[in-house]
Amino acid sequence: MSDSLAAQFEQIFQHSATGHVSAPGRVNLIGEFTDYNLGYVLPCALEFATEVMYSTRVDNRVIVHSANYPGESDSFDVSEPIEQGNCQWGNYIRAVCFVLKRQGLTLSGLNILISSNVPQGAGLSSSAALEVSVIGAFNEAFQLALTTQTIAQLGQAAENDFMHCQCGIMDQLISAQGQTNHALMIDCEDLSTTAVAMPEDLKLVIVNSNYPRKLVESEYNQRRIDCEQAAHKLGVDTLRHANLTQLNACQSTLTENEYKRAHHVITENQRVIDTVAALKSNNMPELTKLLAASHQSLKHDFEVTVPATDGLVEIISDALAGKGAVRMTGGGFGGAVVCLCRESEVAAVKKAVNQHYFKRFQLQADIFICQVGNGLTKHF
Ligand code: GLA
Repeated sequence: MSDSLAAQFEQIFQHSATGHVSAPGRVNLIGEFTDYNLGYVLPCALEFATEVMYSTRVDNRVIVHSANYPGESDSFDVSEPIEQGNCQWGNYIRAVCFVLKRQGLTLSGLNILISSNVPQGAGLSSSAALEVSVIGAFNEAFQLALTTQTIAQLGQAAENDFMHCQCGIMDQLISAQGQTNHALMIDCEDLSTTAVAMPEDLKLVIVNSNYPRKLVESEYNQRRIDCEQAAHKLGVDTLRHANLTQLNACQSTLTENEYKRAHHVITENQRVIDTVAALKSNNMPELTKLLAASHQSLKHDFEVTVPATDGLVEIISDALAGKGAVRMTGGGFGGAVVCLCRESEVAAVKKAVNQHYFKRFQLQADIFICQVGNGLTKHF
C-alpha cells in the first residue's frame, strides 16, 4: 500500500514525500465508557491503520488530500486563526492544527496525503487513527518532540474542543501506544499502561453491524453528563472513586438514569481488572462470562446498544455455545461487536452471522479476523 501511496503523493504534489507515519484503529476488549470516568479500559491496536505521507512547504499552507476521497482536498493557512471548513474529514486536520497551535507550538505549511483502511462508522476509531497519525506527521515534520502520551492528549483535545465530541482518552492513547500481540490495560486516571499478552490460540473476530449510526454524538455527550451528575451526587470527583455500597446508599438521591449509568461504570471497572486476569490465565469460560456481563450492562444500564448489535451478540453467542466471548465494542449506537474464541470456533461464528443476521436485520455484516498491531509508527 505504501508504494502506491508514494506514487500518488508524487502525482499530486509533483515531488516525493519526505516523511511517512501511520497510526492504527483499535478494538476495545472491555472497559466501555469508563475512560472519561477515569477508570480502566482494555483496548488493543488493530492492523487497520491510517497512513500519512507528507512534505514540508516554504509557505504556511496545509494542503491535504485523501486517497479515500479522490478529488476532494482541503487547504488552509496555518498562521491564520483555524476554523471549520467544508470538507468533513479535512476538519480533523484543522482540529489537530488548532490544538497544536493552542499549545504554543510553531507550525508552518505541510503537504499531506492520507490513506486509511480503518472501517468507518464501525466503532473502531477511524477518527482517533486520523488524529494521531496527523499529529505524528506534524511532530516529525517540525521536530516538536511530543511524547506518545502528549500526542494522544492532543488528539483527544482536538476531538473535544474542535469536533465537539466529549470523548475520553482511550482511542487516541491506544492508537499512539498500542503494542503488537498485546492488549493494553490503561488506567485513565494517571494514564499508566500495562501490556497484557494475547494468548496465542485466541482469535480476535470483529463483526461490523453496518447499522446506520444516528445521534451518536448527542447521546454520547448526554451519557457523560449523566455520569458526572451521578459522581457529584455521590460526593466523588469521578465515578472511578465510587463503589457499589456508596451507590446503593445514595440511590434515592439519583435519577433512575444516573443510577444506571453509575452502576454500569462501577461494575465495568471491576470487569476490566477481572478480564486482565482471565487473559493472563487464558480462561475462556471466565472471558465468556465477563464479556457477556459487559454487554448486558451496556444494554440495560448504559443503554447504548441497538437491536442490530444485540442481535449479533445473540447470534454469535448461540453459535459459540459457551466456547467464546462476545459483546458490543466502542462508542455504541451501532458499530461492531468483538468476539474472542479459539480457531476451531471461527467457522461456526461466520456461518451463524451469514445465516441469520441479514434475515433478521436486512443488513449485511462485515466479518474481520484481526491481528493486534502496533501504535503510531514512523516509517521514514
Ligand atoms: C468512544 C470514545 C472513547 C470511549 C468509547 C466508549 O470510542 O471515543 O473515548 O468513551 O467511545 O468506551
